[in-house]
Amino acid sequence: MYRAPRGTSDILPQDQPFWRYVEARAADTCRLYGYRRLDPPVFEDAGLFRRGVGEGTDIVEKEMYVFLDRGGNSLALRPEGTASVCRAYLEHGMHHQPRPVKLYYIGPAFRYERPQAGRYRQHHQFGVEALGDADPALDAEVIDMARQFFVSLGLGDTSIILNSIGCRQCRPAYLEALRAYYAPRAREVCADCQVRLRKNPLRLLDCKTPGCQPVAEAAPKSADHLCPDCAAHFTALKQYLEGLQIPYEEDHRLVRGLDYYTRTVFEVQSGEAGRQSALGGGGRYDDLIAELGGPPTPGIGFATGLERIVAGLKKQAVPVPAEPAPQLFIAHIGAEAAVAALKLGATLRRAGTAVIVATGGRSLKAQLRQANNLGIDHVAIIGEDEVRAGTVTLRRMAASEQETVPVGRLLELLRAPL
Ligand code: HAM
Repeated sequence: MYRAPRGTSDILPQDQPFWRYVEARAADTCRLYGYRRLDPPVFEDAGLFRRGVGEGTDIVEKEMYVFLDRGGNSLALRPEGTASVCRAYLEHGMHHQPRPVKLYYIGPAFRYERPQAGRYRQHHQFGVEALGDADPALDAEVIDMARQFFVSLGLGDTSIILNSIGCRQCRPAYLEALRAYYAPRAREVCADCQVRLRKNPLRLLDCKTPGCQPVAEAAPKSADHLCPDCAAHFTALKQYLEGLQIPYEEDHRLVRGLDYYTRTVFEVQSGEAGRQSALGGGGRYDDLIAELGGPPTPGIGFATGLERIVAGLKKQAVPVPAEPAPQLFIAHIGAEAAVAALKLGATLRRAGTAVIVATGGRSLKAQLRQANNLGIDHVAIIGEDEVRAGTVTLRRMAASEQETVPVGRLLELLRAPL
């Protein structure tokens, strides 16, 4: 028997209302903030992510699904959405549009991670990107938007974690300070951190190994090493957040796992805490579009993980709108009635009524049981007599009542609450 690949799952019909609810809240939030939907392909030239997300990141180095297609092109299943959106922005000349260009996406992303709770090989993201504006007010608006999205879902119990990791100008000196701090402590940290010290010192700060915690905690802070422009940007952002009355927690160890970030980085964490539980994250990436060959264009955005959101909704028993059951079940007895039932079903559907017509030649009792299991209260029963008379026996299951009605009146009766 085949099973879904490790780290992937089927989104079953009973879970669909949660997903539709999250997507509806996402679309609604985007409408309120002026973002328009863009659906990039699920695979791209692998080079896009190598260049965009960064060669030295875990995502590119260890987690990307890369394959050669039959034409010999090196493609990758997208591990995230930002690089794709920036590629599409350039490809479609959106830099000629009024700025910022605000775009959003909802769809799957793929990372070859070790599957565990909240961490999958296929997950789904709702993400937004605002391109072409470096104003810190936009950072504040994007953070407000992320927060409001969770409030609209009924998951208000979230916290915003914030940091600034500087820019091309100030980061090299900060990384030097970090290296100088870690070098004499190299023996105190884990093997992974020793590699990070050489390859990607910023990631030393978000190591999860217990032994590395005190070292990382006391490490130099990027916010203390910002150039005047980055410092002014960070100060302005915090003032805007205070103006918006958005509570946030500054965390000098928040660095994020993608290389493109500059200045602002943030995460939205669920009330239940634990780094693993980030519901969403994002930040500014002012060099990414130039890195991909475009004109210098600042950008900022965030993405959220839909599996984690759905798990949160279930855990907190947030009520989501149920899918409505079909309005009518048509049961029938005999060959002639089977034809009449199919015809009636087709007519009612064309008039916009959701109908299930019994199939499988089961007994009337079994057909009624099926209607019950489907949660359908109205059942039209057609037998030989009804076919001849042009009527149906309309039964209301919950009330155990029934009446004979002409077929022509059925629509009207179903439309009016019975
Ligand atoms: P990210 O933090 O890597 O950022 O992913 C965004 C969110 O996707 C995470 O906060 C988490 O909820 C969810 N997520 C990530 N990986 C997994 C996984 N393996 N299983 C389940 N959920 C997962 C980005 O992808 C950036 N592109 C966000 C961004 C947009 N930055 C600027 N604009």
